[in-house]
Amino acid sequence: MKVLVVGGGGREHALCWKLKRSESVSEVVCAPGNPGIARDARCVAVGAEDIDALMVLARAEKPGLVVIGPEVPLVLGLADQLRAEGFAVYGPGQAAAELEGSKTFSKRLMHQAGVPTAKFEVHTDADTAEKAIRAWGVPIVVKASGLAAGKGVIVAYDVEEAVHAARDMLAGNSFGDAGSQVVIEECLIGEEASCLFIVSGDTILPLASSQDHKALLDGDKGPNTGGMGAYSPAPCVTDEVADEVLEKIARPVIAALKDQGAEFIGTLYAGVMLTKDGPKTLEFNVRFGDPECQPLMRRLKSDLGELLLAAAEKRLDGVTLEWDDRMALCVVVSSDGYPAAFKKGQTIAGLDDVEAAGTTVFHAGTSVNDGVIVNSGGRVLGVTGLGVTVSEAQAVVYKALENLDWPGGFYRKDIGYRAVAREV
Ligand code: AMP
Ligand code: GLY
Repeated sequence: MKVLVVGGGGREHALCWKLKRSESVSEVVCAPGNPGIARDARCVAVGAEDIDALMVLARAEKPGLVVIGPEVPLVLGLADQLRAEGFAVYGPGQAAAELEGSKTFSKRLMHQAGVPTAKFEVHTDADTAEKAIRAWGVPIVVKASGLAAGKGVIVAYDVEEAVHAARDMLAGNSFGDAGSQVVIEECLIGEEASCLFIVSGDTILPLASSQDHKALLDGDKGPNTGGMGAYSPAPCVTDEVADEVLEKIARPVIAALKDQGAEFIGTLYAGVMLTKDGPKTLEFNVRFGDPECQPLMRRLKSDLGELLLAAAEKRLDGVTLEWDDRMALCVVVSSDGYPAAFKKGQTIAGLDDVEAAGTTVFHAGTSVNDGVIVNSGGRVLGVTGLGVTVSEAQAVVYKALENLDWPGGFYRKDIGYRAVAREV
């Protein structure tokens, strides 16, 4: 089977890498891909958000399966258009993708479906938002309702900061249209985990647990990013917690979408906070997490092509997954300055040596300039290693990263620290 993967980040590299190693897959095509993906797939220069051009590409390539990686084409309705032309597609349609596309929609649906989540209010007017924030007090969470690449969330411990964030969002200064509605939320306390599910209609198959580090700096300090590292499994997700997330969070929200006529085929990502009152939903995404997808793909032993095709064709019932028992840990290398402005076009060397030291390097924001790999995005590389313990996987990755020759690169030095603390 030929598979077309849409996207060009670390998540899509991990998917292409795994698809290439799937017996059911004969060829992987990726749009637009990146220089790392080019090792595992034939890359075609069509942007992941150019829906018309992607349709033209699909008609020409006639893939047996289309896998849509990022949220933007899902929210734009690419899956619906492909399905209308008879393609097997892994990824939800536009109506279900609203779960990620609009935090307002998502919170209201959770509320209706009785899914545990933080108390919230939606605001479109700056003065009313300010009044509410002052009345609630801090800590408080302020979120742009629309898509903001993981950066539209401010956890504020200072009232003025929260008011400023909400005003800035509503004025369209920080996130454009995505900030025209603002969600304010009660601040939840606990450890976070990412619980992902392969969903095909009524069948919901949990993937192994994972945990990512969204904050830029060591100790989970600094601004939120798309994710600076991740590992799988997450020891805080016990079997009991996993079961609770499946029964109280995933099943009811998928059922609530179905009741609205929005059947879900694709990845449901529940970001959960493990509070003293049980797991509560922080957010839903409608695609694999990035970087979570990278350690997950390193551990998955099952044939990914077969799995995603079964989901696309609603044959998922009875399917089980096989995992490598080891821990996988991924450290993201970003451009120094990210998530704010950074300098592009810097030469990145030593990648072969990083891999030779026992890791897999997935590319995210790279491009080729005069035959040399350079940085072109905020998050640039994901370096994943395996170990019997998290400490071991962590040691493999950080040792390998000593071979990276890129002075303008930045990475956290403590990915996995919570799990490591549990091991000693
Ligand atoms: P989200 O994109 O909604 O997942 O938010 C990004 C990050 O902000 C989460 O991974 C949490 O670390 C933090 N966050 C979001 N909502 C809350 C909340 N209600 N309480 C505490 N932290 C939150
Ligand atoms: N790592 C968080 C996300 O993919 O949204």
